[in-house]
Amino acid sequence: MEFLLISLLVVLSLFLRWVISTFPYSGMNTGPMFGDYEAQRHWQEITINLPASQWYKNSSDNDLLYWGLDYPPLTAYHSWLVGSVGFMLNQSWVELHGSRGVESYHHKLFMRYSVLVSDLLVYIPSCLLYSNSFSHKVSWHTLLSLLLYPGLVIIDHGHFQYNSVSLGFFILAVAFLDRNRILLGSIAFCLALNYKQMELYHAFPFFVYILGYYFNQKTSYAKRLLGVACVGIAVIGTFLVCWAPFSHSPDDVLAVIHRLFPFSRGLFEDKVSNFWCSSNVVFKIKTIFTQSTIVSLCLFTTLLSILPSSVKLLTHPSMINFKYALVISSLGFFLFSYQVHEKTILVPVVSSLLIVDQEPFMVALFSITSIFSMLPLLIKDGLLLAYVATTTALAFVLFALYGSNLNNLTKKLLTAATGLGVTILTICAVAVRPPERFPDLWPVLVSLFSCAHFILYYLYFNYQMIIGHSQHKLKSQ
Ligand SMILES: *[C@@H]1O[C@H](CO)[C@@H](O)[C@H](O)[C@H]1NC(C)=O
Ligand SMILES: *[C@@H]1O[C@H](CO)[C@@H](O)[C@H](O)[C@H]1NC(C)=O
Repeated sequence: MEFLLISLLVVLSLFLRWVISTFPYSGMNTGPMFGDYEAQRHWQEITINLPASQWYKNSSDNDLLYWGLDYPPLTAYHSWLVGSVGFMLNQSWVELHGSRGVESYHHKLFMRYSVLVSDLLVYIPSCLLYSNSFSHKVSWHTLLSLLLYPGLVIIDHGHFQYNSVSLGFFILAVAFLDRNRILLGSIAFCLALNYKQMELYHAFPFFVYILGYYFNQKTSYAKRLLGVACVGIAVIGTFLVCWAPFSHSPDDVLAVIHRLFPFSRGLFEDKVSNFWCSSNVVFKIKTIFTQSTIVSLCLFTTLLSILPSSVKLLTHPSMINFKYALVISSLGFFLFSYQVHEKTILVPVVSSLLIVDQEPFMVALFSITSIFSMLPLLIKDGLLLAYVATTTALAFVLFALYGSNLNNLTKKLLTAATGLGVTILTICAVAVRPPERFPDLWPVLVSLFSCAHFILYYLYFNYQMIIGHSQHKLKSQ
């Protein structure tokens, strides 16, 4: 019976992905730069035609100003793998120089299938493992939300990216740690980090939890030290394997690192619902401080934002504290760090789905607001209908599941405020022409509204982890 239900859920999640994939993608028919779809295709072209040492370096065959590779090596290997299949199907899709901006029906099918296959191989199995689907204690709410959270589906299968690969490895890592398989968990997390550098948002909680895990064991010092040392070796080993093709010279490694952290691209580019972009409305920080001051300021505020939860986790390294810390740390990084993109909100939201059993109400609100925060991008991509349909469906499901729990006034008010705000601003952004003096009015309001929510969630999760601790300790036992 459980097996049947789980299969049905997986089929439903594939169906949702399939439907979304019929929508347009980022940069469709908008040369000469196109968008993320062309970026991913271009990386296939670069990786299958050039030796690895050239992938991250500017040359006459690899103009980095045209969608230069800016994710870590695992993304590059994945591009190489998909590109090799593409080459077998139709060489013109990945021809060096000649394939720029390829757009055809069959190519779109090929690209869409590559995301679907990645989900089937990495993301979906990780979600099944995390939610105990292979045992008799299936965590249904978690499985349901991980498989069907529309934000991730719309960005990966609509807009076009492979976020679910790194997020899948991340979920796998937490699932391993959940089962006390520390070494496997560390390796899975290194894979996530080597696929997308945004997984750095989770690095502190992993580090602190694993340290706390060993130091609170009731064994001899030597054994505990040995445990930590083994993790260290596993981490270094995984990195060495991932970076092996670039290890011929320090120059190659530096070239990659330089591409991964493009400080010169500034504090933020498009509108993003974080602290810096929102405060920019009244306080033009970019013009007041030099770039290096801003970088230091970001570093300081980000570290400050994760300090309380890290201290709590270090002194109380329980699994549930670890999961709260993952949400808080990734949200802190999203709000305060340097060079954040609007799509990166997926990292904190997916982390929060891991505690949906403990925090159904806040996680529900967070899911809705997060998709809304990407509205300007979704409108630009032609994904408005996908956004409205999935968000409305999500709101109905959540209301059916938890509507009867809205017993206190704060929750009722918050739900009403979020629902009204999201609806009104969506209608405005789509149908109301902004005043001439403020052409950016709607995107700015969307990001201010979302940012205020994210700060609220950030404070709430901190409160729950640090003060409401005894309550969820009871629940999780
Ligand atoms: C990279 O190389 C291309 C082509 O050789 C050149 O046009 C471009 O200016 C170079 N970019 C940088 C950042 O050096
Ligand atoms: C290969 O792809 C190109 C561009 O998408 C298309 O024009 C061509 O017809 C395709 N060739 C085959 C054999 O399908």
